[in-house]
Amino acid sequence: MPEDKHPPTAFDTQAVWAAEEGPFPYGAATMPIVSAATFAYPDLDSWQAVALGQRAGHIYSRNSNPTLAVLEEKIARLDGTEAAAGFATGMAAISSTLFTLLSPGERVVSIRDSYGGTNVLFEEFLPRFGITATLCNTTDHEQLEREIALGCKVLYLETPTNPTLKVVDIARLSAAARRQGAVVVTDNTFATPYNQKPAALGSDLVLYSATKFLGGHSDVLGGLVSGRGDLVHCIHHFREIAGATLHADAAYSILRGMKTLGLRMARHNQSAQAIAEHLRRHPKVAAAYYPGLDTHPGHEIAVRQMRGFGGVLAFVPRGGIGELRTVLDALQLAQRAAHLGGVATTAGPPAVTSHVELTAEERARAGIPETLIRYSVGIEDAGDLIADLDQALARI
Ligand SMILES: Cc1ncc(COP(=O)(O)O)c(C=O)c1O
Repeated sequence: MPEDKHPPTAFDTQAVWAAEEGPFPYGAATMPIVSAATFAYPDLDSWQAVALGQRAGHIYSRNSNPTLAVLEEKIARLDGTEAAAGFATGMAAISSTLFTLLSPGERVVSIRDSYGGTNVLFEEFLPRFGITATLCNTTDHEQLEREIALGCKVLYLETPTNPTLKVVDIARLSAAARRQGAVVVTDNTFATPYNQKPAALGSDLVLYSATKFLGGHSDVLGGLVSGRGDLVHCIHHFREIAGATLHADAAYSILRGMKTLGLRMARHNQSAQAIAEHLRRHPKVAAAYYPGLDTHPGHEIAVRQMRGFGGVLAFVPRGGIGELRTVLDALQLAQRAAHLGGVATTAGPPAVTSHVELTAEERARAGIPETLIRYSVGIEDAGDLIADLDQALARI
């Protein structure tokens, strides 16, 4: 048997080494940022050999770039997929994937609780191209299976969802989609490859807002899609023309973040579990949402398909909008920001974060309380975060 070029190793080892075994130019210890827009050749023959794909190399950074290529190989290796493509933002990855896969007259089946921007694609932009999106109740697996059985080109999933952390059974729904020949796409932003491997559960493509946990430091925007080689090839072709390629600078920042992904996710998982359990019992909290709580409706599925339950939780302080304001404004160890997945704790209501694109009625229909606080647990000391939440809740 040929020797396996990349024998399986533990996640933390892969996070450091995958695609970064080197050697790198100049003997550099890390992959350098190749910020060149284009690549020059000494003669036409060598240029043409690369342009025609007869020799490895790069022509123009909208099409491919050495630093970006390392990031693409890294996420594919961590996801256990064949290939990946990097985009300027998570939304660029999502929209490019959907526009590559879908044609006029075709149908996508998805869930109501997708990220707000994704919802806008389903409800506003795709219909303009004659593509229909049927959005099912997120946790109603029977309804999803019925809609899939009616025929669809794409099944689009996201789990856990933003911001109420609903859990969708990837293996069960992928099996239903496979019977119809549909392509399964899963947004794995909240879980990351540390907590969940959608490809092993039957998803053909895995999407990320790399802006969140993969980058991890709230200092870079990016998006990634990884999965089946033939599909990624088509999405990559779309990217060459639509042009929302990730820049080498951003690719480098995300690569640096990903080296500590395992360490950070282990801490996020542990702290979020402790905080969710604290909030569930808190007298000033009306509801707490976290897939790691055994009272959470999606807990059983989460236990089956996730290694840990992630760094995002949500809770509803008792009272109305006034109380929400009081608690949010009193938090000292949380940035009030439309973001999640960073090393610093971030908090905000969906009305100004994940679901700002929706009206209050649409949020109500999606089952998102206006007084919900999405709380992305950073890597600070969990005891300090609990004390901060307690002092803020005590003001109600
Ligand atoms: C689950 C999920 N998917 C996609 C996106 C979009 O990513 P980006 O902001 O990088 O475009 C977000 C952003 O918050 C998200 O939370």
